[in-house]
Amino acid sequence: MTKRVAVITGGASGIGRETCLKFARKGDRVVVADFNEAAGNETAEMIRSNNGEAIFIKTDVSKYEDVTRLIEKTVEEYGRIDIMFNNAGIGSSTPVLDMNMETYHKIIDINQHGVAYGIIEAGKKMKELNIKGVIINTTSVYGILASPSTFAYHATKGAVNMMTKSAALELAPYGIRVVGIAPGVVDTAIIQSYRDHGIIDSMKAKVMGNKLTQPEQLANAVYLLSLEEADAINGSVVMADEGYAS
Ligand code: NAI
Repeated sequence: MTKRVAVITGGASGIGRETCLKFARKGDRVVVADFNEAAGNETAEMIRSNNGEAIFIKTDVSKYEDVTRLIEKTVEEYGRIDIMFNNAGIGSSTPVLDMNMETYHKIIDINQHGVAYGIIEAGKKMKELNIKGVIINTTSVYGILASPSTFAYHATKGAVNMMTKSAALELAPYGIRVVGIAPGVVDTAIIQSYRDHGIIDSMKAKVMGNKLTQPEQLANAVYLLSLEEADAINGSVVMADEGYAS
């Protein structure tokens, strides 16, 4: 049986790393993509040392040529691409009136353009190779609910939601699904700044059970979405937020 090949951006840490480990445990070949070379290689090594198959490809998702190269090298190495998980992202906690353009563009470049490049390049390659694959994009409850001080982040996640729906419409004729997954508050490095500002308790209080979601839980949800049995889920943004309420 042909093994599936999963490309996972942001695979060096948090949700991305756990998703790499999950897919590998399930027997998929994994391409770990991240701009953090040391930690990205570590994820791939963790998989290989457990008899899984993985390579690391250094990728800055905010650079179109890096994402193009990522997809080309994946196919060179493994011959196909079945799953593209556009997950790399950064947080932001700058109030709108304090925003400088460097910060603003950095967030848009990574969280929005990085996902766009992944959808475009993986979609083209799946179509070319006639693979009925799935593209999964990490969005956020903040793609739907507004909160103060996360102006640019909201913009990117709202954009990811609509890119997901739009691309799904266009790729459906080729049997390629495009799905969004929206976490609430996950216990990863990205929420460290909130922890530092002492607002983590108020974030937890918005979640059922007053707890942080663990990255493994998100990895499980992403895996379920990748399965053929989930083929009715297309163009949707699936909430994986444990009932996060504003
Ligand atoms: P994380 O900080 O643990 O992981 C993010 C990964 O993305 C890191 O490995 C980092 O090196 C990588 N990355 C950042 N910029 C990159 C770039 N330009 N090119 C390549 N890789 C890059 O954080 P986490 O939580 O695992 O974040 C994953 C996704 O989940 C992000 O898109 C984030 O917005 C989203 N998310 C996270 C939530 C949370 O509460 N942790 C809630 C909602 C969404």
